Order: sequence, then structure tokens, then C-alpha cells
Amino acid sequence: MPAWLKDAVFYEIYPQSFKDTNGDGIGDLEGIIEKLNYVTSLGCNALWINPCFDSPFKDAGYDVRDYKKVAPRYGTNEDLYRLFDEAHKRGIHVLLDLVPGHTSEEHEWFLESKKAERNQYSDRYVWTKSAFQGIGGRPYIGGEADRDGCYMLNFFKCQPALNYGFLKRTEDWQMAPDEPACIETKEAMKDIMRFWLDKGCDGFRVDMADSLVKEDDENKSATGAIWKNIREMLDNEYPEAALISEWSNPVLALKYGFHADFYLDHHGNGYNTLIRDNETPGGDHSFLKKDGNGDIMRFLSDYLPKYDKTRNDGYISFITCNHDTPRARRTLGFDELKIAYAMFLTLPGVPFIYYGDEIGMRYIEDIHTKEGGYARTGTRTPMQWDNSANKGFSTAPADKLYLPVDPADDAPTVADQEKDPSSLLNTVKALTALRRSEPGLKADAEFEVIYAEKDEFPFVFKRGDLIISVNPSDKKASATLPRKMEKAYEIGNVQISDASLIMGPQSFCVLR
Ligand code: GLC
Ligand code: CA
Repeated sequence: MPAWLKDAVFYEIYPQSFKDTNGDGIGDLEGIIEKLNYVTSLGCNALWINPCFDSPFKDAGYDVRDYKKVAPRYGTNEDLYRLFDEAHKRGIHVLLDLVPGHTSEEHEWFLESKKAERNQYSDRYVWTKSAFQGIGGRPYIGGEADRDGCYMLNFFKCQPALNYGFLKRTEDWQMAPDEPACIETKEAMKDIMRFWLDKGCDGFRVDMADSLVKEDDENKSATGAIWKNIREMLDNEYPEAALISEWSNPVLALKYGFHADFYLDHHGNGYNTLIRDNETPGGDHSFLKKDGNGDIMRFLSDYLPKYDKTRNDGYISFITCNHDTPRARRTLGFDELKIAYAMFLTLPGVPFIYYGDEIGMRYIEDIHTKEGGYARTGTRTPMQWDNSANKGFSTAPADKLYLPVDPADDAPTVADQEKDPSSLLNTVKALTALRRSEPGLKADAEFEVIYAEKDEFPFVFKRGDLIISVNPSDKKASATLPRKMEKAYEIGNVQISDASLIMGPQSFCVLR
């Protein structure tokens, strides 16, 4: 386990929308380098950069055409090496995004694999034996290649599935995961990882990590065996490199070698019940909405068993949101966001802040889709730095931007919020500073629920020697403390008298 993860607070950067330095309307690596001091000022000490590799960008870069080459629109490989260097000078670790399940349909491996003549890459992807023979139960394409066969897709049409084999095999074209061609796919991924790690990258966020071996068993044990093997490689060759999965099943992901797994907002799961539970009748049931319709037990009944089963193996990562989910601002106001982030940044595990969430950027409704974004596009608009043209994102004409900036008159900006002591941005800074200075808030520090009752507030938990209390509701709430304590940090009105804690509406505190 890389020790630095214990203190890490990540910042996720969607590179095309962060900062454009050459006026072409698209964010670039130079822009990230320019804003590293901002990342530091935010209290973040680690980055996850969404795919920045050569790509036709039909899925925003998750369709990789060349894993070892930076997309020219972002800069050069040298720029990325310089980014690693400049980040390291500031104590910032950098994760790249590894997409192991599929490539772009324009990747050289796939162009070879499509050929009628057999070659080194014929079995790099999943193919049936005839253009008329489809793939049961999974998306596939036929009739597009000289090769007589249909190929499997892993996500969009532009993303053919790499071949790691099938655990349960019912067709003669399905290979076992230990066939040489499948092993070669895995070795090719290791080669890509070594390439970037040798250049100074500090690890990977792994896209669709559970999607490798097809027709796997319930526990994804064949896919898991691949990750165990990759983790062994890292432990031997790059023990400080971090491996974080998009799996959304921390119990399995951590068992198979990931250091952390994201707690994603899948419908009805614990994260969903905290901030996005607005699809059932009776209003918004999210715990972190001030209406007070939420129930902390719905979160805890999902999270606690996962936490208990994984606490010795690694971390569960809370996110403010990511490039695939609506921004929390869609349903939460600034007052609610403060309490929500306070909770995410004090729970165990390694937290991630998505660029722009620290100032409460909006989810832009009704925006035209871009690069396969569809409903996700509203979460991917340019970072709002200041009140100059294009909110300081780019000097390009507004109609040449990657995506339009939030057109609202009150679109939040970094410059405005830096000046306002009570802004969301300054609240986030205070929280990251607290998190990084308190041993009790480290990723692996003890966590225990002290007070949580169905439909009641506050939610009180222990981290090391600290007690944390969260009252997102707009009503006063109180709790009994185990002993006399002092406030180390508060949001809203918090009173302590002897051993009772009185929490004003929408309040949060850390007690010592
Ligand atoms: C992951 C990424 C998403 C991408 C998909 C296919 O879910 O987060 O953005 O579209 O995988 O690679
Ligand atoms: Ca640019």
C-alpha cells in the first residue's frame, strides 16, 4: 500500500475543460501545469487526469488510439513528463486514466485485428468466426471488416472489447483466459503501465476495471486474477504506485489488489441516498438535503458492511461527483454542498473532488452532447476561473470553445469565491487543511458510528480522537457527547454545554 494515499486528497481534472493556454478553445497540459498552485491552494495533493492520450474522441478520450502518446490537442509527451515533475515539486501525485477493457476502433491493434490475413493482433479482440455469427447477449458489430467475423463491443460502437478470454465458454470462438493471446493482452496493459510509471506517473485510475474477462463468475474471479497479477507487478517494480478502480464493488476490487475503489452513485446505493435520492415520490429523500426527508440508515446499511469488509485491505473513495455523474449542485444548494463536502472529507478512505465542484459549478441542463457525453455533457463544461471572457478558461472566441461556459449571470468563479471568507471554496480549503492536519482524519484512521437513528439528526461518528457531527436538516438537533469536548471546526451554529451537543440548522462540527 503506497503510504502517500493515507494523506491524499484528490482533484479530478477533465483536461479538455480545465484551462486552455494556446487559445484553441480546448484545455491542455500546459493549463494544468499553470494551475498546479491552485490545486495546492485548494489543499489537494493528488490528481486524477481523465484520458489525455491520442484518440478520435468519440467517447471523450476513453477510446484510446495510442496509449503511449499524448493527444496533440493537449500537448506532447514531454509536456506530460514536465507536468509530473512540476506536480512532484509541489508534493502532488498524478494518476493517469488506464482504459484496459477496450481501445478505439482506430487503434493500430484493431486495424490489424480486422484484417482477413492472420497476424499478431488477430486475437487481441473478441471475434466470432463468421460475419453472420453474432455474440449472444452482448453488443457486437458485423460487416465492417474484411475479416470474416463479428467483434464484441465493450461500451460504445467505437470501443471494441480487448480479449482477456471467457471464463464460461459455450462457443468455439471463445478463448480461455489463460490462452496465450489473452495473456498477451494483459502483458500489453502492463507494458503501458510501466511506460508511464517509468516517466514519473504515480499510478492509475482504472476504467471499467471489472470488465476484462467475459462470462466471468459472480465474484469476477477471472478478472480478479488478472488484477492480482498486475498488483504483484506493481508491488515488485513500483511499490509506490497507486491503483484505483472504477468497479463500484470495493469488497471485490480491494480483494483483487486495488488500493481503493470508488463509491459511485449507482441508483439506490448508499451514495445515491446521500445526495441524489430524488426519483421516488414524496420529494427529495437525500440525507444531505435540508428538507430533512433523508434517512442516514439507508446510507449506513450499504456502506458499513463494505467498510468493515475492506478496512484492512484499502480504501473506499467518496467523490463530490465525477465526469459521468451530474454535479451535486444540480440538486443541492451552496448551504447543502458545504455540509455534504464536510461529510465526504471527514469519512474514511481517499476523497476525490471533481474540478469545479469546489466552487459549486452547475450541471448545465439541455446542453448539446459532445464527444459521446450525452447526459454527462452538462458536468463537463469549462472551469470558471474569473469574470474575464469565457470565465478565464480560454481566449478563443466563445463559439470555438470545447463546450460553452455556464451562461448564468451568477455563474460561480474561483476569483469571486477566493475573496469571500464564507464561500464554498473557502469552506473546502478549510476542510482539506483540517483533514491533512488531523491524524484522526487520515484515510485509514479509526471510524465508528456514535449516533445514527432512522429519520433522525444529527449523524455522529468518531475518527481517531475526534468526534464529527453532521446535521444537514434545517431544524435544530442535539446529541449527547461521550465526554466534554471542544470544537476544532464548525459550520453553522454549534453549541456545547457539558456533554450535550446542540446543532443548529444545517450545521457540522469536528470536536476534540
Ligand atoms: C467509464 C468512464 C466513462 C467512459 C466509459 C467507457 O465509465 O468513466 O466516461 O465513457 O467508462 O470507457
Ligand atoms: Ca489548448
